[in-house]
Amino acid sequence: MAAHTAQQTLAGLVVRPAFHFTPRTNWMNDPNGLVYAHDRWHLYFQYNPEGSDWGNMSWGHATSRDLRHWTEHEVALPYRAGEQIFSGSAVVAPDGALIAYYTSAYDDGHQAQSTARSADGHHWVSDPGNPVLDRGTSSFRDPKIIRHAGEDGTITWVMLAVEADDRQVLFHTSRDLVTWEYSGSYGPLGPEGVVWECPDLVRLAVDDDESDQRWVLLLSTNPVGADPDPEGSSMSAVIGRFDGRVFTSDAEELTRVDHGRDFYAGVTFDSAPGGRAVMLGWMSNWRYAADVPAAPWRGAMSLPRQLSLRTLDGMPVLFQEPAEFVGSLLAEAEETEVATPWRARHDVHALLELRWAPAQTGALRYEVRGDADAVIAVEHLPEFGEVRITRSGADAAALHPDFPSSVVFPLSVSDEARMLVVIDGPLVEIFFNGGEATASHLLFTDSPTVTSHLSSTFGGPVALRMARPAAAENPEGGA
Ligand code: FRU
Repeated sequence: MAAHTAQQTLAGLVVRPAFHFTPRTNWMNDPNGLVYAHDRWHLYFQYNPEGSDWGNMSWGHATSRDLRHWTEHEVALPYRAGEQIFSGSAVVAPDGALIAYYTSAYDDGHQAQSTARSADGHHWVSDPGNPVLDRGTSSFRDPKIIRHAGEDGTITWVMLAVEADDRQVLFHTSRDLVTWEYSGSYGPLGPEGVVWECPDLVRLAVDDDESDQRWVLLLSTNPVGADPDPEGSSMSAVIGRFDGRVFTSDAEELTRVDHGRDFYAGVTFDSAPGGRAVMLGWMSNWRYAADVPAAPWRGAMSLPRQLSLRTLDGMPVLFQEPAEFVGSLLAEAEETEVATPWRARHDVHALLELRWAPAQTGALRYEVRGDADAVIAVEHLPEFGEVRITRSGADAAALHPDFPSSVVFPLSVSDEARMLVVIDGPLVEIFFNGGEATASHLLFTDSPTVTSHLSSTFGGPVALRMARPAAAENPEGGA
């Protein structure tokens, strides 16, 4: 079978990312329990401790000091007889302990919310009263706990969780992180034939103006049913208001968060320094996640992304910028001006920052490929105000019939366009115009080097900076 041919060709040859988190071995999906505590970023994740396919879902655990190097630890919350540990979140409680909320997915098909407590982030004790929030339904999941400060400064804890099949986010509030009271729901909205998963709610100031606060609901949608959308799973956002009980919005549609095929289940860290909103997503797609090579890890996290709201054409737009180290590495690199066409063979771990004036280049095309017949092509089409990204090639098609893809999205550019291409083994994340749009894709390159190729209609110049984030010493010392 074609899919097996591609896996045999690529298995073992897939280069492990150097500055994105991947588990040492086995299956991983959603980020869970993202929390900053004890001077470390804690990442828990949906993990199968026993194999490279989805199953035995447990919370794996990794930590980082710099959002660049990750150290994997023992499984934090293992599955048990009759119960898998599905996605959820963690917060730092007023007494300094970490409190996690996760979904208990019971073998009888019912799903409810449970809680566990930890002093150090490594050893967790589940509440003997679990599950603590149970509606007796089968798709009530993915609890995300956030804080809401009232006008008098008192903190209310708010739990968002989905009734996935109903395309609804349910809100419950609590004063003590123990007792929860239902306070309302949001949805359904947008396309039918999907489940809603992994909600989050983030407060952001528009253009850093603290007097203009909005709330951004993040959620992930996955097509289901007899004839599901072949584009598969993706993430969306809705900008609106939150009164501490329920989210409301005038939006009539969901807005896509990332235009690529491989960004899902993104949620933010609790207690991030400086009150920043830092989001991590899973770089795969339920449509073919089980078919990507297990090498021997299967599943990677995106770069951490800082979220902000900025006004574009009179509307607030969700911006996503990569973790700070990316900008620092590029700032150290020298900028050169290259004429198009331009081609270079370089390390498969690379950052490329491109700046160009569409008046001088016309349409600009950037392409990246390894030795396998799989390519990602990004075209900026200034006359249409659009970007088109295609993933194609015989090896891409052999991986899964829906792996080849084509996406088009708007990008308005006046004098200068900017594009940051982050390549880390099989992961390609692209940030346009400082984060106004992003697109994340897997690309199985099967080689330690790739070729980047630039061409343009008018042959105009492109200002280029390149950095190679070589495997530097982990400041955590691997401990
Ligand atoms: C999202 C999801 C969640 C669920 C978890 C199970 O990718 O389906 O809704 O909790 O994965 O692994």
